Amino acid sequence: MTEQLSDSSRNWLLRETQIHPEAPRKFESIMCQGNGYMGVRAATDESYEKTVRYTLVAGTFDKMEKKNTTELPNGADTTAVYLTADGIGLALDEDNHCRYERRLDLRDGLLTREFEWSPRVGLRLWFRSQRFVSLADRHLLGQKVTVKVLEGQTELCLETGIQGGERYGEPHFLDMEGRLEGELLQYAETTHESGITFVTSAWVSAQLNGARVTPKPQLLPDRILSGYASTLTTGDELVLEKLCRIATTRDNDFRPDGEEWDREVLLHREQEEMRQIRSLSFDSAFASSRERWARLWQERDITITGNADADQLAYRFAVYHLTIMAPLHDNRMNIGAKGLSGKGYFGHTFWDTEVYMLPYFVWTDPKGAKSLVEYRYHCLNAAREKARESGYEGAMYPWEAAWITDGDVCPDAHFAKYEYHVTADVAYGVHYYYEITHDMDFMRRCGCEILFETAQFWRSRLEWSAEMNCYEIRNVIGPDEFTHEANNNAFTNYLAHLNLCLALRWKERLRKEYPQDYERLNRKLNLDKREQGWREGAEKLKLPVADEKNILPQDDDFMTLPEIDLTIYRAGEKKLRKDYPYPTYTRLKVSKQADVMNLFLLREELFPLEVKKASFRYYEPFCVHESSLSLCAYSMLAADCGEEEQAYALFERARAIDLGSNMKSSDEGIHAASLGGVWQCCVLGFCGVRLCGDKLRIVPNLPKSWESATARIWWRGSNLELTVTHRDVTLRVLRGDRKITVLTEQGILTGEGELHWNI
Ligand code: BGC
Repeated sequence: MTEQLSDSSRNWLLRETQIHPEAPRKFESIMCQGNGYMGVRAATDESYEKTVRYTLVAGTFDKMEKKNTTELPNGADTTAVYLTADGIGLALDEDNHCRYERRLDLRDGLLTREFEWSPRVGLRLWFRSQRFVSLADRHLLGQKVTVKVLEGQTELCLETGIQGGERYGEPHFLDMEGRLEGELLQYAETTHESGITFVTSAWVSAQLNGARVTPKPQLLPDRILSGYASTLTTGDELVLEKLCRIATTRDNDFRPDGEEWDREVLLHREQEEMRQIRSLSFDSAFASSRERWARLWQERDITITGNADADQLAYRFAVYHLTIMAPLHDNRMNIGAKGLSGKGYFGHTFWDTEVYMLPYFVWTDPKGAKSLVEYRYHCLNAAREKARESGYEGAMYPWEAAWITDGDVCPDAHFAKYEYHVTADVAYGVHYYYEITHDMDFMRRCGCEILFETAQFWRSRLEWSAEMNCYEIRNVIGPDEFTHEANNNAFTNYLAHLNLCLALRWKERLRKEYPQDYERLNRKLNLDKREQGWREGAEKLKLPVADEKNILPQDDDFMTLPEIDLTIYRAGEKKLRKDYPYPTYTRLKVSKQADVMNLFLLREELFPLEVKKASFRYYEPFCVHESSLSLCAYSMLAADCGEEEQAYALFERARAIDLGSNMKSSDEGIHAASLGGVWQCCVLGFCGVRLCGDKLRIVPNLPKSWESATARIWWRGSNLELTVTHRDVTLRVLRGDRKITVLTEQGILTGEGELHWNI
């Protein structure tokens, strides 16, 4: 790829300096804009054969006719621009343009595209478009298009508007209707199965050489446009500004009672809302959003000194996307595997949330994190139902989740039903959230019930082995999805064990400290009767132990499976499954992604360093890192093991998953978990911040190329600033309780207001 993705002087810009009509999807995904409510792909203003325009609104799932699942439908588009000069439509080719640049500014989310276009000999035009999706008002988005005549005279027509209808893939909408209410453009459409109405509204204004002119709206069969046409000569400049709102009947902001809006009521309310924003300009609306971004960066940025431009950019890219992908405004929604940047995995939520993304939110935005864990509480009834249907007790969370009442939405139920570990991951998320926030309100209302019900699931899932005199968990797929029908997958067993222990611990705690909550839950779930089963399960569950070489077995069989030469697969030259189709690859000693490493990261206090080191060295060569969830986990573990160079090399590969030169890597959307992983590598890996047992532990492992790193984290209501160098660590309380206790390599340190120690 010829363009420079990083701007080394600033490390805030993603840049594309050459248009890619033949492979547009990468930049559409990585430059996607949004605010957690909606995601708008960065499609070029003018359309090409392969352009994919998506406007996805979180939580608006609708059934797909062709596949047995639900997905996020593609709402009406507001990004397309129609420009003609002397009847020639804007379409860039090799010979007709120059000075091309598209850039996304991560500081404020502004997407800008500029170039000089020469539609014919003697005519040169300067084109600039700017777009934002507001972080200050989640329904608002804006666009400004400027066309200036550099040379010549032309009949110019510039239009933009709203284009409705699902344009790619499965049609989801019924009753599609465009309206013109005076100058107000409105489009309504309703999803066919879930019955959610989307209303998209827009005001378009125009200026010619700085003076307001009246745009001409028109209602066409598939779109509503507004724009301006005129004869322009050298020096003339035409500007179109458009402010839009997107709202749906699923929105929770005006109807906190959970009632959904009626289509007509929503249309009228949106007309009112649009009247309110009539007086705003693109610049003033954008300024509010920019201010919100500035505030966010003050808290969330990391400052890295040293030779770390690409790392700094990758960190900001991760935080930018984690911000725009997470529907934290509504706890009935969660993060999709591709965020809101594409339709990969249909917008569904996986274990990715708890293990890869939740840490970012818990450490930097505990309030936002709460919304993510509450989502799982809303899904509890569906999880109970799934357990019952599958012949178990308690609550069994689905491998893929969407709307809270949907239950299991995985289209490939055959494999998904073995990925039992997601239930323990959800419980782990509850535990992790609580330990870092100490949010007792959440535990009393939601968290305990999740722990009790998931523990009961595990209790009913355990199988007794008379031969070994212990409980086993047989026939599962662990995090490594290449190994099927595994028995006693270490990750699964240890997390199930934790789940059982947490239920016991919280039962006792509730009984002592919150007897009313205890009584309520005891009546509902029969805790007293269940307790003995949890205890027996926890005491007798097989927990794999390291062998004589200090290697922790991934499961009962992995270590004895036949080996093959993995060179080409590890180099990414070929997909292993092409040469070894199902079920052959499941019987080889090869893993798709980090498995045991994830266990070490989640339960680090249980395993000595020698076991981590030996296991890292053993497993990494058998891993093809085919999942984007793998490299970041291996990198953090390498950092923990003091394998500094390898930690950094793995991190470099992890940050290249979306930002690297592979033009196909992000076609279906960015890799949400991997971006959570990039953040984790920086803060939890290199800076060494962890939840260890119930303690905050900080044991840094900075890469050689970094001189220092400064970041902020939240710990139990206090905001802390952490500065790490190769020699020492400083931890300062910025807000909250001034007492700090940290577990370091030298043991526990306590202090008031500030702690400083050498490493
Ligand atoms: C990975 C899973 C992950 C899913 C969604 C798969 O390729 O193997 O671990 O949950 O993608 O990101």
